[in-house]
Amino acid sequence: MIDESFKKLCKVSELSERQGKRFIVDETEIALFKVDDEIYALSNICPHQHTALIYDGFIEDNCVVCPAHGWMFDLKSGKLKTGNSRLTTYPVIIEDDNIFVKVSKIDLNW
Ligand code: FES
Repeated sequence: MIDESFKKLCKVSELSERQGKRFIVDETEIALFKVDDEIYALSNICPHQHTALIYDGFIEDNCVVCPAHGWMFDLKSGKLKTGNSRLTTYPVIIEDDNIFVKVSKIDLNW
């Protein structure tokens, strides 16, 4: 039984490898990725200029690259590759092909 603080976003089979999807859960923007069969849920808001574009980033070196100006964030930790900023990351549970993400309201790391 999954804790009800986890919200169902979609099915694993609905995600394309390395192609992000955008979700809004309780007013929180989420970027969801499948990379090498791992699922990652990060904030969709880039801390650089607060654009909701992370879902549209490309994947390189286990990072997502913001399409606006190229800041690179580690998919697992959310940390900026060169610098102190970060994207919030959210816990993910997979059950029967369904992806559940625990979204906390605190999403402001800048
Ligand atoms: S808005 Fe993301 S790198 Fe500038």
